[in-house]
Amino acid sequence: MASRKTEPKKRNAVAKSEKTNAKNKAVTGGVAAIVLAAGKGTRMRSARAKVLHELLGRPLVAYPVGLARELGAAPVVAVLGHQREAVEAALASRFGADAVAVVEQAEQRGTGHAVRLAMPALRGFEGIVLILYGDVPLLRRETLQQLVGEAERYQCLALVTATPADATGYGRVVRDKRGNVTGVVEQKDATPDELEIDEVNAGIYAAPAAFLRAATADLVAKNAQGEYYLTDIVAAAARSIGVTAVDADARDVAGINDREQLGEAELTMRARINRRWQTHATLRDAASIVIEPDVTIDVDAEIGRNVTLRGRTRVGHGARVEDGAILVDTDVGAGAHILPYTISNEAVIGAGAIIGPFARLRPGAQIGAEAHVGNFVELKKTVLGKGSKANHLSYLGDAIIGEKVNIGAGTITCNYNGYEKRQTIIEDGAFIGSDTQLVAPVRVGRGAVVAAGTTVVRDVPAGALAISRADQRERAGYAADVAARYPDKKPAAKTK
Ligand code: UD1
Ligand code: MG
Repeated sequence: MASRKTEPKKRNAVAKSEKTNAKNKAVTGGVAAIVLAAGKGTRMRSARAKVLHELLGRPLVAYPVGLARELGAAPVVAVLGHQREAVEAALASRFGADAVAVVEQAEQRGTGHAVRLAMPALRGFEGIVLILYGDVPLLRRETLQQLVGEAERYQCLALVTATPADATGYGRVVRDKRGNVTGVVEQKDATPDELEIDEVNAGIYAAPAAFLRAATADLVAKNAQGEYYLTDIVAAAARSIGVTAVDADARDVAGINDREQLGEAELTMRARINRRWQTHATLRDAASIVIEPDVTIDVDAEIGRNVTLRGRTRVGHGARVEDGAILVDTDVGAGAHILPYTISNEAVIGAGAIIGPFARLRPGAQIGAEAHVGNFVELKKTVLGKGSKANHLSYLGDAIIGEKVNIGAGTITCNYNGYEKRQTIIEDGAFIGSDTQLVAPVRVGRGAVVAAGTTVVRDVPAGALAISRADQRERAGYAADVAARYPDKKPAAKTK
């Protein structure tokens, strides 16, 4: 085989006529992308289409589509087949209803057939078309930028190649004596000599639209698998516009075929993301920390062991998130301190607030600056004002709580009457005694005091005391009276 190290790496022999053509039409109509994702993914052994399986909280197909969009590709065309509706819905929910044009490939007759079906969706487009796979999530943006750059500059076909430890299953990249790529041969069609080639086709290409249109129209399914091989366009390009190979790390272009590969890819992606944040934030035990791709972490933040940050969570400047916390779509203000095992979903935590340990913030929890939410306190659709405290064992739902309010241990907002949710309002500076129940809808006025154990059923005027509890009585000698009824038994407290 041709040595990849010594070859003139860039450009293949280009047909002379094409070269002059390329010079004359300096037009670059931008970039469009085709994402192939019609396959079933049999080896996943799943009822779900392969590209819908999630890697760090995103369906696999969202990775190539997201990359294409980051590169400014328009349109982005997805070729879908298995569970088309579900995949289309996943794309729409992530990127917006019209962000991705969908082409249906009802029967998977090969990668070449898939691209051929996609071409009409690119009618009138004359720039560079990027072809990606729905199941290759670790692909790097830099690789694609290089690929598109080469295809654009030389108006040629650029393909990504790699040298994996084991080339089994991949198409092999065939080069001539001078090191120029002449074609790609599939494993099942390869001669014993070709099987020895260790440089493989990653299946990712960039090429001028006009070439792709003509080359995919010309494909025939004469091969071991009776499929339309997209790889045949490589030989076609070698004979006409020329081929350029962009070398990539085999791990970055690996396709996901089974759950073991999915697990490995997730670990790789995790490590990659964590390293990125370690440039300016402290990760206590990076290997134990899960940070999804859309999370942002500001300078000087500290992330403890076994922390999970998901969705669009943001950890503000200098904030600390301690061990075992799980934050989903949560905004953590600058300098806030999230104590261990806090669970938060769709919440906003103000600057300098202290949350947890074991706090639960549910959607719509808005914690003001410097406020405290302690252990076993649950908040839902509730605003807790600046400097207010709910330190122990409380449920606060559908409530608007002002500034500098004290919520005593065991306070419960009774927000649900079996039919609808109703609101509690607690104004600035109010003091809610322990074990209070607030039966909504109800309002506690500014600076009012609710005595411990009170069931608040009416509004409490500003500055007033509300108290509702049975009067306390005492019965002298009660304990001895009871003991006398059980002469053979010792009281529980004295059994040891
Ligand atoms: C393909 C390449 C091979 C390359 C390998 C890299 C061809 C003929 N071979 O092989 O050279 O080394 O990728 O992974 O292209 N798909 C469709 N419709 C189809 C067929 C496939 O949408 O009709 C999609 C699949 O869902 C998948 C991608 O295209 O996302 C690749 O298809 P796959 O069958 O895995 O191709 P390979 O045989 O692996
Ligand atoms: Mg494959």
